Amino acid sequence: MLKKLGVIAVLFAFIVGAVGVLPALAAEKIDVRKVAEDLAQFLVSTRRMISQMVDIINTHGAKVGEPLPKDAPYTFKGVIPAYMGRVIGDDFFKGSGIRVKQTTMGKGDFGPRNEYNAPDDWEKEVLTRFYEPSYPKGKGYGEEIEMEGKKVYRYMLPLYIEKSCLKCHGDPATSPTGDGKDMAGKPMENYLEGDIRGGISVIIPVEEKT
Ligand code: HEC
Repeated sequence: MLKKLGVIAVLFAFIVGAVGVLPALAAEKIDVRKVAEDLAQFLVSTRRMISQMVDIINTHGAKVGEPLPKDAPYTFKGVIPAYMGRVIGDDFFKGSGIRVKQTTMGKGDFGPRNEYNAPDDWEKEVLTRFYEPSYPKGKGYGEEIEMEGKKVYRYMLPLYIEKSCLKCHGDPATSPTGDGKDMAGKPMENYLEGDIRGGISVIIPVEEKT
């Protein structure tokens, strides 16, 4: 009887132990590249939705799902995809330690509109490849590297100009103020739909495996 109890106790301990260990094992298997890809896609979606809602945000009395009110006052509220991309990225970093940010090499003589979005050396190298006309569309690039003495997984997803972006980044002749500037007062770069605009850069700290 005692022996039986002993076996049960060992079994019990094993099950409790296994349950405790399982999540840890599952966590070991997390595919860091997939996490980076998905986080980048999530920011692309967030930015895209804001870009598509710029007129709803700025038009007095406008509402999601309804036609824009005609002849209503239009006031630029400063809510743009890049602003949201920056504040969401910063807030997410505080909560997660994972960096997700937009970056760009600009276009021709136009550098980044905001220095905050300027690429670091790694981003410059990857973006240069993305900007090659022969680079496969939509293909991200990632690798594990050392950054400031710590192991990190760095990833970048190319970011393209879509129809809704042209309102601000498109033909300067369509400037709402007639001076080649967009509603935010920035010179329009004459991008076309499908042009490479930059990338979403992700930095995930990777634990040292010792
Ligand atoms: C309402 C105007 C507006 C729309 C629409 C818009 N942008 Fe921008 N975009 C801006 C402004 C203004 C900045 C500079 C932001 C800043 O000063 O922080 C900017 C900055 C950026 C940046 C950061 C790099 C840089 O130059 O500083 C990227 C990348 C970008 N835009 C891509 C896009 C894409 C892609 C779309 C469409 C999905 C889009 N934008 C739609 C106004 C706009």
